[in-house]
Amino acid sequence: MIILKSETEIEMMRRSNRIVARILSELKKMVRPGVKTRELDAYAEMRAREMGAVPAFKGYHGYPASLCVSINEEIVHGIPSERELKEGDIVSLDFGVIYKGFYGDAAITLPVGEVSEEARKLIEVAERSFYCGLEQVKEENRLSDISAAIQTEVEKHGFSVIRAFVGHGIGRNLHEEPQVPNFGLPGHGPKLKKGMTLAIEPMIAAGHWEVEVLADGWTAVTRDRSLAAHYEHTVALTENGAEILSIDGPEAEESAASGSLANA
Ligand code: MF3
Ligand code: CO
Repeated sequence: MIILKSETEIEMMRRSNRIVARILSELKKMVRPGVKTRELDAYAEMRAREMGAVPAFKGYHGYPASLCVSINEEIVHGIPSERELKEGDIVSLDFGVIYKGFYGDAAITLPVGEVSEEARKLIEVAERSFYCGLEQVKEENRLSDISAAIQTEVEKHGFSVIRAFVGHGIGRNLHEEPQVPNFGLPGHGPKLKKGMTLAIEPMIAAGHWEVEVLADGWTAVTRDRSLAAHYEHTVALTENGAEILSIDGPEAEESAASGSLANA
């Protein structure tokens, strides 16, 4: 069952998601060669608690940290450690909180210093494919229109879409129905309705889409060890169309005013 949210509930979700967005933009400034991934995790948890929120991932199915930090061929669910980021790496930061009962969830992939041309393009296409999906978030469409738009954009650039992980509904739970795959044919699945809140999260690889989970039981890597990138926002379908909830600062005001970042 897809849980539709009222305008009041969406306002609650703006708050939790803006906390996530704020923390991700602060983490972005900390990403440089030499920083330990555990330092990023500790910072994220500390800031969430300062803002009255609880890290959403810690303890979720036994996940041992607050932040997921996935480097290079790691796709998602990388566990923070003493490992240091180094020049040329790409790093995905995935963070979620619970604030007043509602979840926020978002992810970005960042270059560490100078990275290869391929790495830069991969990061850019992950982000751009999210926006292609976002454009499909409107009442006349069906769920898989989002999926198909993402897949088309990714494959157009010669990259592949990860199949083993998908986006999801979100609200009072981190994962709600529906699942939001990043691949598929358009025109299938439930109709999109006002009040739907979705975490849309393309995960893409420079090589093949097959994944493997490392011995830690969490870290998902590309089987061919090609580079991977991840980009995620929590989005609501409101009166005014699609709205990204997980944005911070002046952008957040703009999006609330126009109802959509894509049209801003
Ligand atoms: N953004 C991820 C998701 O939607 C984060 C979950 S990590 C976990 O599934 F550790 F909490 F599982
Ligand atoms: Co998510």
